[in-house]
Amino acid sequence: MSKDPASRKTVSRKKEHVDITLNRDVGFREKGTGLDQYDFVHNALPGLNLDDVDTSTRFLGHTLSLPFMVSCMTGGYAGALAINRRLAEVSEETGIALGVGSQRQALQSKEFHRTFSIVREIAPTIPVVGNIGAAEVASMKTADPVRKLVDLIRADAFAVHLNPLQEFLQPEGTPNFRGVIEGIAMLVRTLQVPVIVKEIGAGISGDVAGRLLDAGVTIIDVAGAGGTSWAGVEVLRSRDREFASRFWDWGIPTAAALRETALLKQTRSFTLIGSGGITSGFDAAKCMALGADLVASARPMLAALHHGGTRALRSLLSSWARELRGIMFLTGSRTLTDLQHAPLVTRWTA
Ligand SMILES: Cc1cc2nc3c(=O)[nH]c(=O)nc-3n(C[C@H](O)[C@H](O)[C@H](O)COP(=O)(O)O)c2cc1C
Repeated sequence: MSKDPASRKTVSRKKEHVDITLNRDVGFREKGTGLDQYDFVHNALPGLNLDDVDTSTRFLGHTLSLPFMVSCMTGGYAGALAINRRLAEVSEETGIALGVGSQRQALQSKEFHRTFSIVREIAPTIPVVGNIGAAEVASMKTADPVRKLVDLIRADAFAVHLNPLQEFLQPEGTPNFRGVIEGIAMLVRTLQVPVIVKEIGAGISGDVAGRLLDAGVTIIDVAGAGGTSWAGVEVLRSRDREFASRFWDWGIPTAAALRETALLKQTRSFTLIGSGGITSGFDAAKCMALGADLVASARPMLAALHHGGTRALRSLLSSWARELRGIMFLTGSRTLTDLQHAPLVTRWTA
């Protein structure tokens, strides 16, 4: 184990996060994603065969068989090697995109580099995405450290996560967001790969998305509220639980974040990822109909892997894929672009 105290802290925090999200109930308590408030309009005359449905899409120069991505989660401690290896195995086999967790630890020490690079070893043909936190980016003078992280996994894109809520509540947090947008703009200008900006479960508003687009960002993942509550995770790590728990349900529900952000597509061109609380092919399809180009999920994927291994993760993805295909057929959507134009209505009640 590295002797550097900063590195040791990052290592143990990463492990704690995985343990808490797997073993404790850290879902939102009173707020949902908002996706269940919508229904597709059933098309009794779809005008196509189920076999005509095509769920493939292009992302970062690759063809994906499904518009899915395993959200950025882990790396940088011993136990992450097996997790990332297995996530990569299933992602490669299924033909979906995969992100690694924050690579901050890899900047501090070489000790756990393989927990990240394993992803590219196992998944040579899918889009792989690197990751770092906004607070790190705010203090970076050049893109050199990030270039090393990109090289480590031969990343197709690099994600910066915006996590002001987590930094605010974390006992060891760095709630310093002055300079983040300038840091992101610097990365956009100087990195060879596209920059993705994502939240981690509190959502990105239309206004923030607009500012990111102004900074040159071309891929935004709203990572909205309704799934994993990072305030919840920090409550369970915090000494002052009563205070932190007041923020448990903070954030913009995924559906609302998507709706606001997708409006910007009327005048700007960018890739929109819907995530935060996605638990089925129905959720995924609704994200697409709200304007997403791709849908990502974190904790449900990790939990499937943890409880039932790669078999359970494969089975989860295949059940989401089957639901998605069914919904595309029942809305007369041959392609994902058609699904993006399928009408949604506010849920009918009896
Ligand atoms: C165990 C775990 C670790 C995570 N670590 C990171 C991270 O390092 N970087 C990041 O951008 N997001 C991280 N996230 C956030 C996810 O990428 C995702 O945005 C968030 O959990 C919401 O998605 P979900 O509701 O599907 O879990 C992590 C999520 C989990 C469950």
